[in-house]
Amino acid sequence: SSASDSETQHHESAAAEHGLESVKRKLCRLVASSLSVTVPGLDVEPMLEVSKPGFGDYQCNNALSLFSSLRGTGTNFQNPRSIGQTILNNLPSSDIVESTSVAGPGYVNIVISSDWIAKMIQDMLIYGIKTWAPTMPVNRVIVDFSSPNIAKEMHVGHIRSTIIGDALARMLEFANVEVLRRNHVGDWGTQFGMLIEFLFEQFPNWKEVGNQAIEDLQSFYKASKIKFDDESSGFKAKAKQAVVRLQQGEDRYRAAWEKICQISHNEFDSVYKRLGVELEEKGESFYNPYIPPVLEELTNKGLITKSEGAQVISIAGQKSPLIVVKRDGGFNYASTDLAALWYRLNVERAEWIVYVTDVGQKQHFHKFFSAASMAGWLPDQNEKEYPKTTHVGFGLVLGLDGKRFRTRCSEVVRLVDLLDEAKSRCKEELIGRLTENGKIADWTVDELDTTSEAIGLGAVKYADLKNNRLTDYTFSFDKMLSDKGNTAVYLQYAHARICSIIRKANKDIEELKTKASITFVHADERALGLHVIRFQEVVEQACADLLPHYLCDYLYSLSEAFSKFYASCQVVGSPEEASRLLLCHATAVVMRQCFNLLGITPVYKL
Ligand code: ARG
Repeated sequence: SSASDSETQHHESAAAEHGLESVKRKLCRLVASSLSVTVPGLDVEPMLEVSKPGFGDYQCNNALSLFSSLRGTGTNFQNPRSIGQTILNNLPSSDIVESTSVAGPGYVNIVISSDWIAKMIQDMLIYGIKTWAPTMPVNRVIVDFSSPNIAKEMHVGHIRSTIIGDALARMLEFANVEVLRRNHVGDWGTQFGMLIEFLFEQFPNWKEVGNQAIEDLQSFYKASKIKFDDESSGFKAKAKQAVVRLQQGEDRYRAAWEKICQISHNEFDSVYKRLGVELEEKGESFYNPYIPPVLEELTNKGLITKSEGAQVISIAGQKSPLIVVKRDGGFNYASTDLAALWYRLNVERAEWIVYVTDVGQKQHFHKFFSAASMAGWLPDQNEKEYPKTTHVGFGLVLGLDGKRFRTRCSEVVRLVDLLDEAKSRCKEELIGRLTENGKIADWTVDELDTTSEAIGLGAVKYADLKNNRLTDYTFSFDKMLSDKGNTAVYLQYAHARICSIIRKANKDIEELKTKASITFVHADERALGLHVIRFQEVVEQACADLLPHYLCDYLYSLSEAFSKFYASCQVVGSPEEASRLLLCHATAVVMRQCFNLLGITPVYKL
């Protein structure tokens, strides 16, 4: 709507005007300017990190490494500490900094001005959380994620890819990057011969039958595979013929293929809808026409050679080459990925292309990225140059037995079942709790349902996102649905509690934003404020490293900082009520933004 458009525009211009960089970025600039005077001509990167408790707020660590690199160059510095002292002396004055000191062997401790923290928060409340959007060095990114294969059930790997990819896309979108969310579905390949032929046999009137008749595509796939493997049926030969006829574009085969894809598509879509994930499908088949010219280009550049009847690209340091044309003349996963990359770079003009799959595909990505570099499509795999490709790998999902996660009766885990179970467990828990504390009468059936769905799905997503994605993680309903520790359930309760504090105060927050001001009286209050304003640099780092768990860690420590504050500071009815309500509200706003970036629906009442 135009109203919300003008609102965003207003926020964006406000952000630009205020030049809202993260605290860390601002401090880095101060340190950089000090370093350029302290060690002129050396061009050193500022080393800045959050201090351990009790040592200021941030610390600059440049002195030690500078001292060792200056040793033997006739420097006047006697020891690292004297470098630290000089860095401190040369820091430009700024309203961000309250005080500085040198500690230990030369760390420069920086204490942030409390007034400045308060002002940052107040400005955010007035101009919106969007003013805390991180800055990224790119304008357009492709996130290739989820990407299941047609007629095969989405397995746990695809679930991880969907959850992680969506979080990354949300974070980058928040950073004002244009994100093309690509579902690179496996909609091409030899399995289609079998599926099409089976469709013809099972449903002679397949054109007329509704999609729901073959709703369970996975069983359909299994049944056709059994037939395919049964040598006596003569089905295999027919299926192979069907692949050829499909690839030659014969109408009937093409139509059958489309029907199968459509059924699959509908199935995936209902899952995405439930998860709140948006994706644009550009399946492998889409890139088919681009493969021959791309391979021709690579041949002309002398990259493709013949090996044992196949066409391959040799990659330095790799034992086996990248196969781009199979022995039977067919294209494969790699040739499709090369064509897709060409398309993404040249037609879609993406500057950063991010692929979210399990770490098992690391080799594949390494090889085809190297081929692209050899073709001159990408600058040498350098961190800072664009266009750039990144494989965002993730580990396995393990069951409680430490083995690959499976359910009792089937070898794959159906995502829908997982979500249903998470939800129903949450509902039971919630109803039990509300009955116990006599609040059940305040809840409608509908409320109970949407709240359980939000908590349950949020818990599944959070359990996945909170770990470093590279590590395997153990799937446990009991753990993820616990209301203690670093879980989404705990965080939802923490958020709902803040909301209820604000509700109980019964004050007009909108009015407070401009009429009251934030001041810090208690140390825990200031600590919470400082944590709130660190949000921006955390998202920035999570975007740069494509690691959503940074955001989870932050969210959890934010709610801990809040608990500490709330334990030591009275809010409602205290002389500081107005200021503290604003701080509560700011905490809730930041928490909700974190939930949102993680794809979790926040709950306001629990
Ligand atoms: N369909 C593939 C799989 O299930 C994942 C595709 C990932 N994206 C890509 N461009 N290769 O393993």
